Amino acid sequence: MKREFDNFDEFAKDYRKTHDKSVELSGADSDYFSEYKIMELLKFEKADNSMKILDFGCGDGNSSKYIRKYFVNSEINGIDVSEQSIDEANKKKIENTIFQSFNGEKIPFEDNQFDIVFTSMVFHHIEHNLHENILNEIRRVLKPGGRFYNFEHNPNNPLTRKVVRECPFDEDAVLLKPSYHKVITTKSGLNIKNINFTLFLPRHKLFKPLLGLEKFLTWCPIGAQYYIRSIK
Ligand SMILES: C[S@@+](CC[C@H](N)C(=O)[O-])C[C@H]1O[C@@H](n2cnc3c(N)ncnc32)[C@H](O)[C@@H]1O
Repeated sequence: MKREFDNFDEFAKDYRKTHDKSVELSGADSDYFSEYKIMELLKFEKADNSMKILDFGCGDGNSSKYIRKYFVNSEINGIDVSEQSIDEANKKKIENTIFQSFNGEKIPFEDNQFDIVFTSMVFHHIEHNLHENILNEIRRVLKPGGRFYNFEHNPNNPLTRKVVRECPFDEDAVLLKPSYHKVITTKSGLNIKNINFTLFLPRHKLFKPLLGLEKFLTWCPIGAQYYIRSIK
């Protein structure tokens, strides 16, 4: 049977160790990659606003850990299809955060609930013909004016393709071209405000003085990852 979405149960326990190994050539660890994405949100959002935030495809809750750290007054929900990942997330005991598993299709919340939906590295684990339904669901649970941040690997970057090829949990991943990602987001009725490319340089000490220059490159479609920011 063709997969609808990848099951991460078998990777849940050692997810961070596996990811650390997969990204080690970059000079940074898995936590670094979780934290930088939440810091991107801070370019657009006020950290101390009281908001409801959904971490869609939250896995073991590592992004939620950083959402908690920076969005101090937020109420966080994390959902994922992998029950074992949710068990790992719950072990983190993140304050004011509820993790739950769901069927991967119908988001288990009422309409117009969330100020922000955040998702990281999830859509390439879902069959492309299901993307539109999931985007419609995300749009449904966002409040009018709510923001959606969808972080993805950039298939235009050869190093990203190599990392994905060699990462055990990305075996079945099908990366989203930015042009495709743009079309499906617009089709779902969300208004795209930004498409930002990120992570142009390795994170080794030697490159540290240059990292500040990356903010001038967000337009350049060769960053290792990118995100689309859209508004309901
Ligand atoms: C590469 S992991 C990323 C986890 C987390 N977002 C992070 O960045 O650390 C991909 C996650 O997507 C989840 N996933 C796959 N299909 C899904 C679906 N239809 N709905 C929600 N989550 C899904 C997997 O179970 C897995 O936890």
